[in-house]
Amino acid sequence: MFTVSKTKYIPALRFKWLTPLYDFFLNLTMPERKIKEALLKTANVLPGEKVLDFGCGTATLTIMAKKSSPEAKVTGIDIDTEILAKASKKIKEEKLDIFLLDYDGKHLPFQRNAFDRVISCLVFHHLDTDIKQNMLAELFRVMNKDGQLLIADFGRSKSWVQRTLFNIIRCLDGFKSTDANARGLLPEMISDAGFENVAIATRFTTMFGEVQLISAEKI
Ligand SMILES: C[S@@+](CC[C@H](N)C(=O)[O-])C[C@H]1O[C@@H](n2cnc3c(N)ncnc32)[C@H](O)[C@@H]1O
Repeated sequence: MFTVSKTKYIPALRFKWLTPLYDFFLNLTMPERKIKEALLKTANVLPGEKVLDFGCGTATLTIMAKKSSPEAKVTGIDIDTEILAKASKKIKEEKLDIFLLDYDGKHLPFQRNAFDRVISCLVFHHLDTDIKQNMLAELFRVMNKDGQLLIADFGRSKSWVQRTLFNIIRCLDGFKSTDANARGLLPEMISDAGFENVAIATRFTTMFGEVQLISAEKI
């Protein structure tokens, strides 16, 4: 793991001092395993494939991906070095071969077509709309032809109760970064970045609003 200087970002639980509680809090309040298992089932990673977990945080999904597809080459990237230190500790404890790195928040430090699958869970509502657009373009660039993108994040629900509950996250993480999520614009933004066959595969009801699993392809 190496360190680079970077742009401003919203940490996992909004405040850095809450980062040590992230795994405990997420597990307690969200159907975390259900969402991450569904994401990996949809990804159906094949042996030898290269997988990128964008915004990997404490690497819960990254570790699940490696365990469910041991022959895959799994990389986790995040902007926050503190959360990556926690991720690194978890990976060492599990004795897994996973590459972790941080980046500047703008340019992914990978070549074109470097990954067959890009997975990402609960990250995009941390990114302002212009950063979402930039990172989707970056994810498109680093994805191989015939690659698949799987994003699980908050989206616009048909249920007013779920839409109201999402305001808790909006107050916590900020109205700017969650705006496109609340307006249900993420699928359209994924299409605009060049991905095709963009679809909401599954919707999860949570105590903080609806989480949608979006799948897309680079044809
Ligand atoms: C709610 S946490 C989700 C972590 C992990 N994906 C999970 O499902 O548990 C959001 C993560 O997004 C990361 N993040 C925030 N801004 C980012 C950016 N510009 N690029 C990459 N990761 C970012 C945070 O550091 C944090 O780890």
